[in-house]
Amino acid sequence: CSYLQEKDRKTICDILVNGLARQEYRGYDSAGIGIDGDKPGETIFFKEVGKVNGLRKKIAESNVDTSKTFVSQVSIAHTRWATHGEPSVVNCHPLRSDPKAEFIVVHNGIVTNAVALRLLLQKRGYHFESETDTEAVAILCKYIYGEQANKRLSFTELIKTVLKELEGSFAFVFKSSHYPNEVVMARRGSPLLVGVKTEKKLKVDFVDVEFPSVEGEKNIDALAVPTSPGGLLAPPSQNNLLRTQSRAFMSEDGMPQPIEFFVASDAAAIIEHTKRVLYLEDDDIAHIAEGELHIHRLRRSDGPPVASIRTIETLEIELAEIMKGKFDHFMQKEIYEQPESVINTMRGRVNFDQHVITLGGLRAYVNIIRRGRRIVFCACGTSYHSAIATRAIFEELTEIPVTVELASDFLDRRTPIFRDDVCVFVSQSGETADTILAMRYCLERGALCLGVVNTVGSTISRETHCGVHINAGPEIGVASTKAYTSQYIALIMMALQLSEDRISMADRRRQIIDGLHALPSQIKSVLEGDRGLQEFASGVLSNQRSLLIMGRGYQYATCLEGALKIKEISYMHSEGILAGELKHGPLALIDENMPVIIIMTQDSLYPKVQSAFAQITARKAQPIVVCNEHDDGIPQGCQTIRVPKTVDCLQGLLNIIPLQLLSYHLAVKNGFDVDFPRNLAKSVTTE
Ligand code: G6P
Repeated sequence: CSYLQEKDRKTICDILVNGLARQEYRGYDSAGIGIDGDKPGETIFFKEVGKVNGLRKKIAESNVDTSKTFVSQVSIAHTRWATHGEPSVVNCHPLRSDPKAEFIVVHNGIVTNAVALRLLLQKRGYHFESETDTEAVAILCKYIYGEQANKRLSFTELIKTVLKELEGSFAFVFKSSHYPNEVVMARRGSPLLVGVKTEKKLKVDFVDVEFPSVEGEKNIDALAVPTSPGGLLAPPSQNNLLRTQSRAFMSEDGMPQPIEFFVASDAAAIIEHTKRVLYLEDDDIAHIAEGELHIHRLRRSDGPPVASIRTIETLEIELAEIMKGKFDHFMQKEIYEQPESVINTMRGRVNFDQHVITLGGLRAYVNIIRRGRRIVFCACGTSYHSAIATRAIFEELTEIPVTVELASDFLDRRTPIFRDDVCVFVSQSGETADTILAMRYCLERGALCLGVVNTVGSTISRETHCGVHINAGPEIGVASTKAYTSQYIALIMMALQLSEDRISMADRRRQIIDGLHALPSQIKSVLEGDRGLQEFASGVLSNQRSLLIMGRGYQYATCLEGALKIKEISYMHSEGILAGELKHGPLALIDENMPVIIIMTQDSLYPKVQSAFAQITARKAQPIVVCNEHDDGIPQGCQTIRVPKTVDCLQGLLNIIPLQLLSYHLAVKNGFDVDFPRNLAKSVTTE
């Protein structure tokens, strides 16, 4: 959205499409933009299924006048990951309310009462073009606008009324022919931020959010029509809408100034234009018009308390950090970054000489955590595996019972949580919907909530009481690699900090901290074995349908994570197996044709894994063995992947790297899209 800042249409399209391309890593199946047309209030759409480049091409090949200039304009864009309706041009965002595009919406999330809304609106004669939940929102805007025509609602008032009728999670951006050069955004559950770019200095670097007064304006009373089940039945007392005010941006001299606003769900999309961003909170409704940004609140009685100020932060992240550099794929770059990313996770936090760990974000809470009755880790995907990987050392060092929960299952079970529980939410993005819902569930029950996240400013980092940023740098590849090793280290550091008062653990802590010190150079040496892994991918493992990865103890997490990597990007069935469970089922799969990787690095469980090795080789399996350098206990003739030896609880950090590389080479060899595997998203912001 730009104001008094002349722009031609080509520049506008480039900004939008480049912004979408920077969010490709989140996973998507189609992309679209809506830009101002030649006549006031008119919108031109471009939509394409597949890659953002396809959309770029479509725009370039169109006969739209790209040289036309605008002094003020609002344009919107979206990459979609299908939830309602297959990936197709018609289901692609922006969605419009009608062929004249009176209201245009892009949406991230799910409107759970969309079916009821659709039926209601269809009964009133509205026609739907797509199968999406979002279109119901666009049409609802038009419907309420028509019903309330005599009230001359402002754009914000209109959207507040619309939001009152919606259930589910969302981040929305609205544009309308009735409100040219204005844009309204709203969030509940999905991330949204506003970037600000001006030449002059801003008078304020925060925006006041004034909350509804008790006797504030009543519900706008929008729907004086009979209603059907769903949101439209909600009595006016619920989600009561009250008007709020906020301070506008102004230049220091108070004069109107050219200004541009960039609204996005992810800072990566806008970082090349501005580093000054303001994160919206759930139930914020932001309105931009005539160079001013206003933030209003949608009043909800059930929400957690919310700060009354939104500060403009300056992001530290550099665009170069999100680019591929000399690597073919982001995933490859991120695997190779691990010697540095693990240092970044430890930087300033580990005193290797005195064997002291200081996690600033936890310091004030250490005693409360130690008094906790148990620690509950909650996460999804790779982040869940990092919690599995560190559970044993957490229990050993802190002597506090630890449970590890998959966020979705945790919520499904409505797990009992108490005030003296300590709940740790591990999430690279800090935006995974299930993890956020689990966090809010625990916050409501009064538990102490910690976040272990990579993305500064993310929902989890903002809403937890305290936590640790893993500082791995932006991770673009959908398959998580460097975030895993950094989460793993962050959790180990947490356990070390929590146990610093335990004299009996002093030697063990010292041993682990020394192990951490040696880690970056050991990771480098594992990466040097990359060629051998490429050979496995193009040799013995090529064209296989399935792969079992087995191990036990600390290495169980490595098996799960390795198998996840392989299925995620090489689409080959792969299963992580706890070697202790071999006799309870998996052994039936073993014969000379079943590919197996067995993790046999030397720790206290080594003899037990040796026995698993004997059981599978007795059934003619020819496993590839992940083992320590110089381990001469591995039978002659075995294919091996050798890794340096480290402390037992850190060994998984080295063992996972060959499996990351192997999955990468299997995917490349088959010509698969490594960074954007089919059907998967980097950040799963819907339940
Ligand atoms: C998606 C990603 C995974 C990630 C998981 C959890 O499934 O593809 O790579 O591990 O979400 O994401 P989070 O951001 O919460 O760590």
